Amino acid sequence: MPEPQANQIIVTKNGSYVVSGTVPLSIQTIQPNGAGESWEWVEGQKLEAKALYALCRCGKSGSAPYCDGTHTKIGWDGTETATRETFEQQKTVLAGPTLTLDDARPFCAAARFCDAVQNTWDSIPETADPEARARVIHQATRCPSGRLVVRNTVSGEVFEPTLEASIGIVEDQPEACSGPLWVRGGIPVVSQDGEAYEVRNRVTLCRCGHSSNKPFCDGTHTEIKYQDGISTAPK
Ligand code: FES
Repeated sequence: MPEPQANQIIVTKNGSYVVSGTVPLSIQTIQPNGAGESWEWVEGQKLEAKALYALCRCGKSGSAPYCDGTHTKIGWDGTETATRETFEQQKTVLAGPTLTLDDARPFCAAARFCDAVQNTWDSIPETADPEARARVIHQATRCPSGRLVVRNTVSGEVFEPTLEASIGIVEDQPEACSGPLWVRGGIPVVSQDGEAYEVRNRVTLCRCGHSSNKPFCDGTHTEIKYQDGISTAPK
């Protein structure tokens, strides 16, 4: 029997993401609260995940989320522009009475959980209040890109969600558009030059083709209203 391949995502030159390791793939939809703000994730349809598969990176595939080779026909430029600095190197720190926020802005994928009810930054100074504290933990642990990480100000304990190694195809219901690949559970993302980016529990990779921070999503999909052809309604 052939050896199972390790979980890995390779960013190919001006092409797709090549995923190895039979990484589970499913629709992940942002569900709004009553005010229309990003509030919860809803897992939808599970998609076929072979031992090796290619996901669209240019945003133009006719069989999204999989690659259909369109990038070569349109001469798409997928040059990687993201820094290789780690989250620790990029982050700013905002300390509150019970929670501290680590924030690395370049990872932002505009999923907006941080804006629900009251934004995370305004809430951090209020985290002696149990309601504000619970809301901040809720917001930061749903941030798909890992831009926001909260930890206990006193003990240093990090509130990190437990995520199975998997890839989510993000559909943004409040914005009525499609979003990035939500890479979860510490799957290595390897640049076309063979060097891996920092392995993290959660990162988001651009699949609309328009991020200025490739391979990571920078939220541009919300501005261009990227549509992958998959319904934005929860499945
Ligand atoms: S998917 Fe978010 S910028 Fe492309």
